[in-house]
Formats: sequence, structure tokens, C-alpha cells
Amino acid sequence: MASLWGGRFEKDMDEIVKKYNASIFFDQRMYNEDIDGSIAHVTMLGRQGIVTEEEKEQIIAGLEEIREDIAAGRIVFTVEDEDIHMGIESRLTARIGDVGKKLHTARSRNDQCQVDGRLYLKREIREILNSLCCLESVILEKAEKYADQITVGFTHLQHAQPITIGFVFMAYFQMFKRDIQRLTDTLERMDHNPLGSCALAGTTMPIDRQLTSQLLGFAAPCENAMDGVSDRDYSLEFLSDASISMMHLSRWAEEFAWWNSSEFSYIAIDDSFCTGSSIMPQKKNPDMAELIRGKVGRVYGDLMQLLTVMKGTPLAYNKDFQEDKESLFDAVDTWKATIDIFTRMLDKTEFRMDHIEKQLSRGFLNATDIAEHFAKQGIPFREAHAIVGRMVKACESKNCDFQDLTEEDLQSIDSRVTKASLGDISIRSCVNARMSFGGTAPAEVRRQIAVGKAWLDSLEFQ
Ligand code: ARG
Repeated sequence: MASLWGGRFEKDMDEIVKKYNASIFFDQRMYNEDIDGSIAHVTMLGRQGIVTEEEKEQIIAGLEEIREDIAAGRIVFTVEDEDIHMGIESRLTARIGDVGKKLHTARSRNDQCQVDGRLYLKREIREILNSLCCLESVILEKAEKYADQITVGFTHLQHAQPITIGFVFMAYFQMFKRDIQRLTDTLERMDHNPLGSCALAGTTMPIDRQLTSQLLGFAAPCENAMDGVSDRDYSLEFLSDASISMMHLSRWAEEFAWWNSSEFSYIAIDDSFCTGSSIMPQKKNPDMAELIRGKVGRVYGDLMQLLTVMKGTPLAYNKDFQEDKESLFDAVDTWKATIDIFTRMLDKTEFRMDHIEKQLSRGFLNATDIAEHFAKQGIPFREAHAIVGRMVKACESKNCDFQDLTEEDLQSIDSRVTKASLGDISIRSCVNARMSFGGTAPAEVRRQIAVGKAWLDSLEFQ
């Protein structure tokens, strides 16, 4: 079958070239956007007198029929279609006759594929933003529920200081808040319409790019046609946003895996989010947490792939750019599915407070609080730190806790220290006293929750 661009060719493409060259097997995902772009384009051609009103109507009706047929599975694309743009255009002409050939006036596949890509990504970004907002609401709910519950705070995977579980939730809330903000920025920057850039240099036809931008819901046309067809920054920004967010999800997934381990048993992941072993009957494995941790690798790969494709490409369009789609689609699918799975898993996870409580007496979680206590009594913090360090050493040699040290023990460590000067060092009062802005005290976490809720409610796209 002769291609739509075959006028100057004497031979058809070699079969293996057709296959290697075709993007139809993946870009058909954007058929709706391609049709939307064509309808806006022909509407503008009609308004500008480039096609007649009747021609415009015929083309739009033909495109809508094709849309329905694709949706219903009545059109099966093949390698002969090459890409979604020609797959639709050739069917349009087959259906409505020669008038279909007027659709491609004052446009090129170079701008067409970019219109499709941007419309597609704008829609997906809105969905992802909504999914991230659902995740944030679940986090807020859980943070509220666990605002008073104390757990072990770690640094270097060593017991560090007591914190509240609500505080941990609100730490992750901040990460996903930044993900939402980053994605919103990306959406704003990419909201420019490449349609009418044509091959690279615009056109001699009297087109109206403001009108097509308005019809397609873009903020404005791309300012420079050559940039319009060559820019893939928006995909790269999206892939960077996805990579950072997947990294956040993988960090929490990692915590889920070890909180769920036999050694920790801090949480019980719901059965419906775990799998068993084909040989070990007792096993209940946190596969979803592990898969989330693993899938971040694909998305980093997607980002690296496109960065590498774009490196050193000269202006304007090069066929290399066709390689911008599969990695983008993969990242969209992976990120969306991961947010969804994680949100549901989080929602169904319960903390095992009895197991956590047993760990609170280990690792001298209140050591910093005692040092701060001494500092409040006028001992310079550096000295207070050294005194508590010696107290830890004494406890370790006696295999006891701070409150078990005798007056003599304390006096031999430092003459300024007595049992009374230790103050209230229970884990609960240590946590309650961490009222500094951004701290872990339940009252402070509740303030963070209130601020988080107000921010989430203020988002316009929800
Ligand atoms: N399938 C192509 C792509 O996705 C469309 C643009 C082709 N343009 C060209 N001059 N060969 O990039």
C-alpha cells in the first residue's frame, strides 16, 4: 500500500523497515487526542476560510465516526498505518472521499504528534494529581488516628528518639505535597500548543493558532515553531517528577517491608496485599511493598532513556524523537498503579502497638531529652551530652536503664547530677515536650495536620 507521503518514491518500504519505522503499535493510545487535535484544526481552517463550512462539517463527522469505531474495536491498526496520525487520516479519506485530504493543510505530523502528546499528558497528570490527593487524604486520616501513638524514631537504623506515628505520616505527607506541587508546575509550563508549528517553520497559510489553543484548552500557542516541534522538556519534567515521587513511595515501601518483618512486627499488612510461598506454608510476604520498591527502577530507566535520546539532537524534528513515547507511557502506567496500590495498602494497614511498646524501653530513646534537661538547668549542652554519654555507658555495664542508676552512680559521673535533676524522663513526657515548630509532640502534629488539611482543601484541580 502506498504511503500518504509516497509521492516521490519509486519503491515501497522494505518490510523490516516498515516494522522498525512504525509507531502505530504504541501511539494508538493517543487516538482520542489525535482526533481532538484534528477537530480543533479543521474548525480553525473553516473559521479562516481555508476549507468551506461544509467541508469542515464532513471532516468532523468522519473523525467522530472513526473515534467511535476505534473505541468499539472495529478498527484494527496494522504496520501499514505507520502511526496514529496517518492511520486516522487515511481512514478519513477512505470514508468521506477527497475532502479528507484537506485536513492536513497547514500542519505536519511533527506538530501533530506533539499536540497528541501534550493533550495526553495533561489528562494523565490531572488523574495522577487526583490520585496523589487521595493518598494525602488517607495519610491525614491515619496521622489523626495515630497522633498520640508513640514509636521508635531511627537514624542509621539505630534507635534514636521517641516519636509519634502521626509524625511519621506527616513527614511523608510533606514529600507527596512537594510531588503535587512539582507536577502542578510541570502542567503549567507544558500548557502551550505546538499545533500550527507545522514541520518546523510555521506556514504561509492564514492560520489562527490562538483559536486552536483555545479550542484545545491550552493556555497559549508555543512561541516559536521550531521549539514547538523539538521540545520534549515537558516529558522529561514529567519523568523527573515521576522518578522523585516513585523514590518517595519506594522509601515508604521499604519501611513497610521492615515494619512488617518478624523482627519488627510493627504493622500487620492486610492479607489482601500479601502473597504466600509455594513451598513454605507459613509465609505471608509483603510483595506489594517489595514491588513498589522495585518498580522505581523502571521509572528511573524511563527518565534516563529519554534524556539519552534527546542528548545532542539538532534542531528541528529528528526521528529519534519518536522514541519519546513508550518510556513516557510506561512511567504513567507504573506511577499511577503504584500510587493506587500504595494508597489502598496504607489504608488497610494497622499498627501493632503492643509490639512497638516493647521496643520503646530499648536504645535509650530519652537520652537527648535528659541532656536537654541538664542544659535547661545551666549545664552547657556539650557537657550535658558528655554526662549522658557516661550515664549510657554505666547503664550498659550494669545492664539497666537510666532510672535504675543510683545517686552514687550519678554523682560519680558528674557532681551536678542527682536523681532529682533527671526530671520526668518517661517516654511519654519526652514526646509531649517536643513542641518546637515541626516537632513530634501530638499537639504539634495536630497543628501540622490542620495546615495539611487546609492546603489539600485549597487545591483547585480536585
Ligand atoms: N510517528 C512520528 C513520531 O511519533 C510522527 C512524526 C513523524 N514525522 C516525520 N517527519 N517522520 O515522532
